[in-house]
Amino acid sequence: MRSESDRSRIAMFHVMDVLAESAARRSAGLPVYSLAAGQPSTPAPAAVRAAVADVLGSEILGYTESLGIMPLREAIAAHHRERDGVPVTADEVVVTTGSSGAFTLIFLAAFDVGATVAVARPGYPAYRNTLAALGARVVELDCGPATRFVPTVEMLDELDEPPAALIVASPANPTGTVLDAGDLAALSGWCDAHGTLLISDEIYHGISYGRPTVSARRFGDRSVVVNSTSKYFSMTGWRLGWMLVPPELRRPVERLTANMTICPPTLSQYGAVAAFSADAITELDGHVARYALNRRLLLDGLAELGITDIAPPDGAFYVYANVEHLTDDSIGWCAEVLASTGVAMAPGVDFDTDAGRHTVRMSFAGGSDTIGAALEQLAAVVR
Ligand SMILES: Cc1ncc(COP(=O)(O)O)c(C=O)c1O
Repeated sequence: MRSESDRSRIAMFHVMDVLAESAARRSAGLPVYSLAAGQPSTPAPAAVRAAVADVLGSEILGYTESLGIMPLREAIAAHHRERDGVPVTADEVVVTTGSSGAFTLIFLAAFDVGATVAVARPGYPAYRNTLAALGARVVELDCGPATRFVPTVEMLDELDEPPAALIVASPANPTGTVLDAGDLAALSGWCDAHGTLLISDEIYHGISYGRPTVSARRFGDRSVVVNSTSKYFSMTGWRLGWMLVPPELRRPVERLTANMTICPPTLSQYGAVAAFSADAITELDGHVARYALNRRLLLDGLAELGITDIAPPDGAFYVYANVEHLTDDSIGWCAEVLASTGVAMAPGVDFDTDAGRHTVRMSFAGGSDTIGAALEQLAAVVR
């Protein structure tokens, strides 16, 4: 029997185990108060659903251009021009199968085996795990309270040599922390000066609570910007993302995507054009207003429970909390809390294999009633 490859021996995304256990509880008729899922609890905007109903009757929905249909690439470019105030054209836009697909493509297009890529710790685990599967050498930058959980130029200066790439996310997962314009400009300048490719994950743009989010494109067009319809646009299952790609990497990305996926999902592409319409944006900004209320509810409730050591929740829909007074085994603790109360949370080791033993990530993307009920249940455990 053929054994698994070395490259497949990457870490599990532990929150997926929590989601599977939550589903099993629900099937058994047990209650679940989910603070685990990193996704909106709302469907795609009405305009998107209407557009899809239309094209189902009128389009063949076969393969599209590998880089995505032109009306969508144009809508995305216009969105960047309007929201970020940067001169993006449709040529720079590559539509992908989720931002997850974008990451795999850009990693393959820009790095060879052995290339060094710097990422923040804590950070989104799929960067580290996908890079490991592709044979890159991941260097984690230790980002804690001293730097508001964001990477800095000083951390890059301390590396033995400049990495092939730096990945930043703002707002970040799991912390929600936003990189200020000055800090992002400094990182971008450092990358340009050292021949390091800046990959800016802007998937949580549009979801922030007072601290402005700035696109890396503001500081030049050498960086790769990654985004998706999954978070702000409330379309996780549509598996549609995009990248802004500098000229020299466009053809390599096109060769890879044409061979690996042919094209991104066609129905989703047609629907997504409507996600950038004024009606959709109004609906989506309504979701962000609800996240803001949920965030307040969760922060206040956690404070009452004595959980106050948290990363600055500037954006996205997460609270990343230090619970070292409660556990130093976040996987075990999250499993126990789920079993005894029905409250589902993401264990911190997903995001930080070391300090994450005593942290958890709680999502407030769900309904306000879920958050209230989860807090009540947590009170029993924590007190
Ligand atoms: C920071 C970050 N980047 C990328 C992704 C991948 O999202 P998708 O593939 O749905 O676009 C996620 C999903 O949670 C995320 O949190």
